[in-house]
Amino acid sequence: MRIIRGVVEMQKCCLALKRRKISIGFVPTMGALHEGHLSLIRSAKKENDSTCVSIFVNPAQFGPAEDFKRYPRPILNDCAVCKKEKVDFLFFPAREQMYAKGFRSHVEVEELSDMLCGARRGGHFRGVATVVAKLFNIVQPDRAYFGQKDFQQTVILRRMTADLNFPVTIRVLPTVREKHGLAMSSRNAYLSEQEREDALFLSASLREAAAMIKAGERHSGAITRRMRQILCSRKLMNVEYLAIVNPVTLAPVKRIAGGEAIVLAARAGKTRLIDNMLIAI
Ligand SMILES: Nc1ncnc2c1ncn2[C@@H]1O[C@H](COP(=O)(O)OP(=O)(O)O)[C@@H](O)[C@H]1O
Ligand SMILES: [Mg+2]
Repeated sequence: MRIIRGVVEMQKCCLALKRRKISIGFVPTMGALHEGHLSLIRSAKKENDSTCVSIFVNPAQFGPAEDFKRYPRPILNDCAVCKKEKVDFLFFPAREQMYAKGFRSHVEVEELSDMLCGARRGGHFRGVATVVAKLFNIVQPDRAYFGQKDFQQTVILRRMTADLNFPVTIRVLPTVREKHGLAMSSRNAYLSEQEREDALFLSASLREAAAMIKAGERHSGAITRRMRQILCSRKLMNVEYLAIVNPVTLAPVKRIAGGEAIVLAARAGKTRLIDNMLIAI
């Protein structure tokens, strides 16, 4: 595995691969790798001739009151994990490499970035879209891998890729969960024992929704009401949003017909958790 810290070096390296017709699978991450990331890395390995993983805790996607400083950065362990997975390139740029002095350009995916998570985290998706656009230009992947856990992110990045004609196939892979259903996330490390227990109610509420739909329920309001009841039964749980939305426009849907997404965000204590489910009918 080659560890690359320079933007120009990474770009040159990927250009050389492209000239030799070696396909590149790319997994952008913020590190603190867990099984969710590994599932993306393994798919990238399977579907491409070479694999590049990036680790960059992107300051542009954190709000001023968010956890940029305390975000976990176990870089030595992450390196070992990538080596073990036989990743070919680990791109680990310093902040100044990605945002040089005088940096002024951003990618704005309109409307989609202001809804749901975006309504609570101003500028978050602008930061995400900008860094992913930069990474696409640096790595020039054939395929890029994202987790369904960050559903809105996948919607926005698909939109950006289509709108700006990036020659990249976006692959979205299912959410990897812990034994009792909690969606894996680097931020789960912040949870106290009690919060971790409460956090299980996110996935539990989604399972209840699936059961209601299986039993024939088609009215979004009835489903979200029941889910809210489940979530609010936990004292420490604070629901930020809970909605059933169109999977491309993120517009709320009143009656479901299959293919919509149930999306939710809640706080367990101070930690913000998200989860979602695509409706299969
Ligand atoms: N539980 C999971 N299952 C599948 N993919 C995941 C999971 N958690 C994160 N990912 C994906 O890994 C990529 C990097 O996310 P990152 O922010 O580094 O991890 P996390 O969201 O756990 O903090 C994103 O595409 C994200 O959707
Ligand atoms: Mg994340």
